Amino acid sequence: MADLSVQNKQKKAAAEAAIEFVKPDDIIGVGTGSTVSYFIDALGRMQIPIRGAVSSSEDTTQKLQKIGIEVLDLNQVSRLSVYVDGADEITEHGAMIKGGGAALTREKIIASVADKFICISDGSKLVPVLGHFPLPVEVIPMARSAVARALHLLGGQPNYRMGVTTDNGNIILDWSGLRITNPKELERTVNQITGVVTVGLFACRGADVLLLGTDQGVRKIVFTSGAA
Ligand code: 5RP
Repeated sequence: MADLSVQNKQKKAAAEAAIEFVKPDDIIGVGTGSTVSYFIDALGRMQIPIRGAVSSSEDTTQKLQKIGIEVLDLNQVSRLSVYVDGADEITEHGAMIKGGGAALTREKIIASVADKFICISDGSKLVPVLGHFPLPVEVIPMARSAVARALHLLGGQPNYRMGVTTDNGNIILDWSGLRITNPKELERTVNQITGVVTVGLFACRGADVLLLGTDQGVRKIVFTSGAA
């Protein structure tokens, strides 16, 4: 097996730790990204008899189907026990930036339905303040310039992610130069801009548990008061 970088080892360890939240007969939500790929690998090895999964992207759907997990339409499902996903940044209060893989809209929809959001990440993702990672915003294509101007007025610099179309047929603006001290307020503000489909701030519905890969092992942080 190829030697994994420290970061990938931490991702893999965090992803494998998330298996404890998956119970027989569950329907689970599955996010997108390299950390989630390790989680799907672990699901395949563990062979827990779950009823199926709701997927946040075409990429994840393919990976789940490859290991024999039935992928369900969210409209067929009334309850998800857990949603397991990575993050680009996360605070000690469970607020996150997500969308580096452009799957933020489906990720946010599934997270909104799940009983528990389990975030899996390597140690580099835990930050005191969100915003060093450019904040992804999914936008209806015809509103690209109008939304970019509106974001610019709020501060920072929105940049068009060239060559990327989301699974929903939209474009992504990556908004850099931010220092997000009140993520819930910024999430609500950006949600109000016409043409915005989803902002990659997950603060109003943040993570419930963070499984953080570190050199000392997987640190489990349980958030009790909601993302701030
Ligand atoms: C995809 C995401 C991912 O969770 C985020 O980008 C982290 O990815 P990775 O696990 O590859 O570091 O939000 O839209």
